[in-house]
Amino acid sequence: MRKYLRQAGICLVVAVALPAGAAIAKPEGSSPVPSVDAVGIWTHRDVGSASTPPMGWNSWNAFGTAITEAKVIGSAEVIRDSGLAEAGFRSINIDDGWWRKRRLNDGRMQVRTNLFPSAAVGGAEETSLRPFTDRLHAMGLRAGIYTDIGRNACSQAWSPDNPNLPEGTVAEREVGLHGHVEQDLALYFGDWNFDYAKVDACGIAHYAATRPNVVDHTFRELPPLVVDADANRSDIPAVQGLYAQVRDTLRRIRPKGDFVLSLCNWGSANVRAWGKDFGTMWRTSNDIDPSWGRMLHNFDSVATRELYAGPGHWNDPDMLEIGNGPFDADHPVEARAHMSLWAIAAAPLIIGTDLTKAAPQTIATLNNREVIAVDQDPAGNQGVIAYTDDEREIVVKTLAVRGVKAVALINRTAEPTEVTLTAAHLKFAANRPIMLRDLWAHADLGDLGGERTFKLAPHETMMLTAKGAPQLASGFFLSEMPGRINVAVDGIPALEPDPVIHRMIDPYHAGTTWDGNRPAYAGWGGPRADATPYDQSLRIAGTAYRSGLGVLANSRLEVKADGAFSRFVARVGVDDSTRGKRAAVRFEVYGDGKRLAMSPPLRFAHPAVEISAPITGVRVIELVVRQLGSAEGNVVASWAEARVE
Ligand code: GLA
Repeated sequence: MRKYLRQAGICLVVAVALPAGAAIAKPEGSSPVPSVDAVGIWTHRDVGSASTPPMGWNSWNAFGTAITEAKVIGSAEVIRDSGLAEAGFRSINIDDGWWRKRRLNDGRMQVRTNLFPSAAVGGAEETSLRPFTDRLHAMGLRAGIYTDIGRNACSQAWSPDNPNLPEGTVAEREVGLHGHVEQDLALYFGDWNFDYAKVDACGIAHYAATRPNVVDHTFRELPPLVVDADANRSDIPAVQGLYAQVRDTLRRIRPKGDFVLSLCNWGSANVRAWGKDFGTMWRTSNDIDPSWGRMLHNFDSVATRELYAGPGHWNDPDMLEIGNGPFDADHPVEARAHMSLWAIAAAPLIIGTDLTKAAPQTIATLNNREVIAVDQDPAGNQGVIAYTDDEREIVVKTLAVRGVKAVALINRTAEPTEVTLTAAHLKFAANRPIMLRDLWAHADLGDLGGERTFKLAPHETMMLTAKGAPQLASGFFLSEMPGRINVAVDGIPALEPDPVIHRMIDPYHAGTTWDGNRPAYAGWGGPRADATPYDQSLRIAGTAYRSGLGVLANSRLEVKADGAFSRFVARVGVDDSTRGKRAAVRFEVYGDGKRLAMSPPLRFAHPAVEISAPITGVRVIELVVRQLGSAEGNVVASWAEARVE
């Protein structure tokens, strides 16, 4: 379906020098010189409203640019009539291919009416998508539109032979937001009444002066601000500045915040760290496609970012491929695994298949209310990895009801395997009952009995809920509630690619002959739940800890306590896996801006020190690790067993 020819493009793009980008003002949320001093408030502000992960349908994985109004409405009708709308799949989003041109006299965007007949309204507007959104709204659904942050879009860069590319002169074909943010968003969210925008980034990535279709004047040059797989050569403040303009404009147009802004720059430019401050959701990797390895790759790109998501802001591993290729009705095990991984990760659930042709089995997989309830749990905690090796993973998501967890037992391989789940994985007391339920079989499985071994078929993910007595008599380990944590300062001194994302090749490069860039998403060194920032177990002076937060020195985390707890306790120290062994660090705990507790200076190999602080009435706890003096490498610091009681 896709006719992208990315190879040549990427070769050329990497040969281009970046512009300074200095003209763009520092946007809210970006912090070039981070201070770890406490600020006394929860600084994160959600963009739009999606207190649970957005759910809906998008045309791209099903149709590419070959969309029509009839196809979109066809799938929307299935959503309305099959129970999927009632299950929460309500946003019907059109992707690339809907636009015809930008009208030259006033810049107003024109719709491709041969594809969207209801848009041929005539009069001064000529075309309008309002009849289309009215129809979706009348069906009880919402409407999403697609655009690009640059002047031009992805299919223009990569599918020159596509019949549905924008038409006309160079200026008429500039359909992206660049230079038209106010005008286009007023049209899309005002006149046309869309609720959701996906904002792609090819326009700021793939229109370098050296590109053949820029050289031949098909498109105007836009010096790349984003270089795929190369965060160092991406102009991060400039990219943030552009997305901030979109965010701020939408907030003005929709002052009640009733919109979703989906950032789509494919995990590039370190968006995995800052997307939360600029969009409702942000892509953490390159495009998914219907393949088992690619699905795992995209899951991996969110799985270690549990502290960056929370209610109102979501890591996005891309749209679902359930119903397509190896996730179709003939592959129910793989389809269920895909759905389970997205649900345990609290990922947006955006269906990407032609529902008019979907088998009942596909609809049933998408419509599993027990699995959807895990994804949509109001606590908004992303699942945390409790166990991982090359073949198997156990991911545990703390749900809003105390003593209830969801757990995914994952077999990544094409061989059968066994996974043993223990009370410790769940942070439940082993000597009390732990009642299990299988969310695909819709069957209660009885008591875990301390631990239980499950046989998993090739590619199978079992999705369970577990009800038990939390290890802590009251309160939580902070690593059980990642949705209440805001990574304010990550302490990463220099960007590094994240090596734990399985190295699936770019989806648009087929075969092993490609010698171009390897997938490399920045973010290595970001704070983690129940692991160090470099993916080791938490360990201080030889003692291992199963619970805690692993951070780098010079970091600051905000924890939303909302006055619900009375004491913060942790065992702190430099982690045994630290790179910098020389410098000391100091752990500081703040409550609503006041320092409540502080550790002595601690160095590598010093035994863990208990730090405890009264937090009655405290709304925001801040956890600061300050480095004292210089180190020979980044200092890894562990808030072991960090908990609120
Ligand atoms: C990019 C995006 C996809 C899709 C296409 C459309 O590749 O990542 O999700 O929107 O563009 O051209």
